[in-house]
Amino acid sequence: MNSPVLEMRHITKKFPGVRALDDVTLEVQKGEILGLVGENGAGKSTLMKVLSGVYPHGTYDGEIFHKGETVRFHHINEAKQSGIGIIHQELNLIPELNIAENIFLNEEPTVWGSVINYSEMYLETHKILDNMGIDMNPRRKIAHLTMGKQQLVEIAKAIKDNIEILILDEPTSSLTEVEVDLLYELLRALKHKGVSCIFISHKFKEIFHICDRVSILKDGKYVGTYPIPDLNHDKMVSLMVGRNIKELFVKETADPGECVLEVNDLCVKNPTRPGSFLVDHVSFKARKGEILAFAGLMGSGRTETMMAIFGAYSKKSVSGDIRIHNNSTNIRNPADALKNGIALVTEDRKQLGLHLLMSIKENITLASLEKISFANVINKPKESQIVGEYIDSLKIKTPSDQIAVNTLSGGNQQKVVLGKSLATEPLVLILDEPTRGIDVGAKVEIFKIMNELVKNGVVVIMISSEMLEVLGMADRILVMHEGKITGELNRKEATEEKIMTYATGGTR
Ligand SMILES: Nc1ncnc2c1ncn2[C@@H]1O[C@H](COP(=O)(O)OP(=O)(O)OP(=O)(O)O)[C@@H](O)[C@H]1O
Ligand SMILES: [Mg+2]
Repeated sequence: MNSPVLEMRHITKKFPGVRALDDVTLEVQKGEILGLVGENGAGKSTLMKVLSGVYPHGTYDGEIFHKGETVRFHHINEAKQSGIGIIHQELNLIPELNIAENIFLNEEPTVWGSVINYSEMYLETHKILDNMGIDMNPRRKIAHLTMGKQQLVEIAKAIKDNIEILILDEPTSSLTEVEVDLLYELLRALKHKGVSCIFISHKFKEIFHICDRVSILKDGKYVGTYPIPDLNHDKMVSLMVGRNIKELFVKETADPGECVLEVNDLCVKNPTRPGSFLVDHVSFKARKGEILAFAGLMGSGRTETMMAIFGAYSKKSVSGDIRIHNNSTNIRNPADALKNGIALVTEDRKQLGLHLLMSIKENITLASLEKISFANVINKPKESQIVGEYIDSLKIKTPSDQIAVNTLSGGNQQKVVLGKSLATEPLVLILDEPTRGIDVGAKVEIFKIMNELVKNGVVVIMISSEMLEVLGMADRILVMHEGKITGELNRKEATEEKIMTYATGGTR
């Protein structure tokens, strides 16, 4: 084998109370796509932050060799100059600036050494996007782009200079299928040019599809590196988790009861196109003790439907009738929704779900303080007990409940969002992409919790782009296309094909 373009040796990184990395080794060959996998909290993101200079030399133990030479990055810019670029798990663009301004942030081309040369900046951006095969206006504001498009801008930013090693930390979690294909094409083109990629993902399908080899971490330790042909799904799971997971979907048959939530003629106006709707006369019923799934392609209006039910839009743009136990509601904001027993776990935890600087404990009980208070005084022991129960049942990996949420790994943050909603003891729990960024083992735990909830009479509504998840867990499936419900399938009759037919606007 050739000598690797990059080696990390004996990397150890500690945080207060956590040994995030413990003597980890990593080797990357030139022009390979190396997968990096492991459970939530295994240390994947931390290892990549060490490599890319986010954690400067001196804050970790061990050594990094780039093309055989020791490198010591003190800043992310030094790593960048060596051709190492990273796209983080959480996007880092500035929403108020446009595409070109983001791509050239702090590196703007200038004239006379000081004035920003906008025409050159736009021209360059146009070229970069063109090279990537992306059709976007460089003057578009980031805030107006979908998460998928924002992701592509991040990539453009990372590869615009001489890139040798591109690190992608769960890059596909918010991309549509078309965007994922575009990303694959980009990665293959980079590989062809000799660029190496390190690709972190919880989606095995992607790992097997795009990677040449896979390195596995477990609890901060290096497990090994395996060529893809030597691995299969089960072997990878047992290396990651340390045990076999036989059944991913543990669906227990529920016995749906009376109608709890009834939605009639729900509409959400499209703010950018007057006269058209993001949610177009959506009506459905959800019954006690059932898991109702909303399937559809990205942008089909599923998230918007749930946001409208949850009171996340201004009353002006929403019309329709939402009933709980056949009583009309007047939900003007999320607090009203919670009072009516409706909780929502959002797909975008950073924006809508969490207070990142607050502790796990504060986040979990934030929406349910009245349940643990008497005369406006929080019952502290009760609070700790409840929070402890969620940390256990959701297997949130943390040394204590006092830890600020922003120091948790991505998947563990997602579990805190779930805990926060569960603590409100809702009648209707809406889960928007509940397993995004969640490792295989924790997925099983979340499915078990869903079973438990429906057994206790809670209505669970889930949105998922993972077809297997929908088919595995739902009692009933509603399919959306362009803001409308285009089909309904029960558990027995549902197949991937039928869902796709409805999701693309066809009828049977
Ligand atoms: N800034 C920090 N302060 C304290 N602890 C941290 C910090 N960053 C990470 N950790 C801890 O280090 C461990 C590894 O976290 P890391 O984010 O690397 O996991 P990961 O493998 O990327 O997981 P995920 O798949 O959930 O994204 C976790 O226990 C996490 O809580
Ligand atoms: Mg991570």
